[in-house]
Amino acid sequence: MAKEKTVYTCTECGGTSPKWLGKCPSCAAWNTLIESVADAAAPGKNRYTSQFQSLAKTAEVSVLADIDATAVQRMPTGQDELDRVLGGGMVEGAVVLIGGDPGIGKSTLLLQALDSLQRGGESTLYVTGEESGAQVALRSRRLGLVASQVKVLAEIQLDKILATIDALQPDVAVIDSIQTVYSDQLTSAPGSVAQVRECAAHLTRCAKSSGTAIVLVGHVTKEGALAGPRVLEHMVDTVLYFEGETHSSFRLVRAIKNRFGAVNEIGVFAMTEKGLKGVSNPSAIFLSQHAEPVPGSCVMVTLEGTRPLLVEIQALVDSGGPSPRRLSVGLDRDRLAMLLAVLHRHAGVACMDQDVFVNAVGGVRISEPAADLAVLLAITSSLRGKPLPKGFFAFGEVGLAGEVRPAPRGQERLKEAAKLGFTVAVVPKANVPKKSHAKEFEGLTIHAVERVEQAMEIVRGLG
Ligand code: TYD
Ligand code: MG
Repeated sequence: MAKEKTVYTCTECGGTSPKWLGKCPSCAAWNTLIESVADAAAPGKNRYTSQFQSLAKTAEVSVLADIDATAVQRMPTGQDELDRVLGGGMVEGAVVLIGGDPGIGKSTLLLQALDSLQRGGESTLYVTGEESGAQVALRSRRLGLVASQVKVLAEIQLDKILATIDALQPDVAVIDSIQTVYSDQLTSAPGSVAQVRECAAHLTRCAKSSGTAIVLVGHVTKEGALAGPRVLEHMVDTVLYFEGETHSSFRLVRAIKNRFGAVNEIGVFAMTEKGLKGVSNPSAIFLSQHAEPVPGSCVMVTLEGTRPLLVEIQALVDSGGPSPRRLSVGLDRDRLAMLLAVLHRHAGVACMDQDVFVNAVGGVRISEPAADLAVLLAITSSLRGKPLPKGFFAFGEVGLAGEVRPAPRGQERLKEAAKLGFTVAVVPKANVPKKSHAKEFEGLTIHAVERVEQAMEIVRGLG
């Protein structure tokens, strides 16, 4: 087959060049030109000229109210936690991108999901570009998937994969991984930005036209972004992301984007010797077990999607060198710097000459600002060497002016903590339940705060 013409397109401004250049000729950005297949539009014909428009038939337009909104057909994957993040199961023709560090369990989870889909009567296809068929078979034996009817294709060439999907018409196909697939229309190597984008676009089109739900597995770069262009995230319907530390057994799957369900929903799994098992009641797994309270630890309630989770925030403040370090794991580092400034300015607690380390226990990543108050309390607790009281927790966003802002759906957070036996809370004033609801929070002493210094004062009074 003749090679199609390729052009180099700037990722910043969309300008094109027939050959690769270090600097974009249109916007002068450096290193932004990537290879893509040229549009086969006839030269000299601008499709936006009025002449051309009069030739084209106008497409049919419908009124929104007249369009049938048929409920999407869901195919439950048999893994409740995965279904939860997907919004109830796989959707016909949907494209799901699932990302995560190597070895975190993407292939394992998807093989398990395909097997139970197959057992549920859907036809499935597992395309592997990283492992041989024998390796996949070995894994399936290990997972205890006896007599699995999942079809396996070991292939990395895009055309062959598309042809196979076309011929088999599976209900669900998994491409493991998108970085290994390549199209021979492009000269760049598999895994390059241009290849990933091109292959994902073709596979997306294939999903939409055939109705096959396609799951793309993606690797993650060191920076934590899905390797390959961010455009991949725009193209697909759902972006799921694996979190967790490979050395702990818990794994979180988080929905970053979902056209068919709630975003930020998480599924919790435990990696066992028989693969990933859903954890149906995960609220307490991110607490470390201290027999007695220790300094530098504060529990917070984070709300992930629809489910509250209790997470322990740990801080260690220790005298540092001439340029003290600020390090955070699972929390935003810039936010930590900001919180330390607020702590100094508004509560008079200085950590200027101290190293500050903060960690969210269990490899969970917390992006919501409701963690702020707990981070500050953990830091001061470590600085003073005084533990927070037993059964204590806190949540609330902290602003630059030292104010404590309410967290969304505070009552649910309070309820979850009360259910798990927590007894003392410091929360933003607006999150305190009304008197009429007081019964539901029996046994829980709630301290309302509006400012950071108030929170510090209350905690000092408690300890
Ligand atoms: P894998 O699914 O291959 O990761 P990814 O596709 O995301 O790169 O996961 C491999 C890891 O999971 C490996 O470190 C071994 C572990 N594992 C188990 O603990 N139990 C099992 O049953 C399986 C299949 C893997
Ligand atoms: Mg894999």
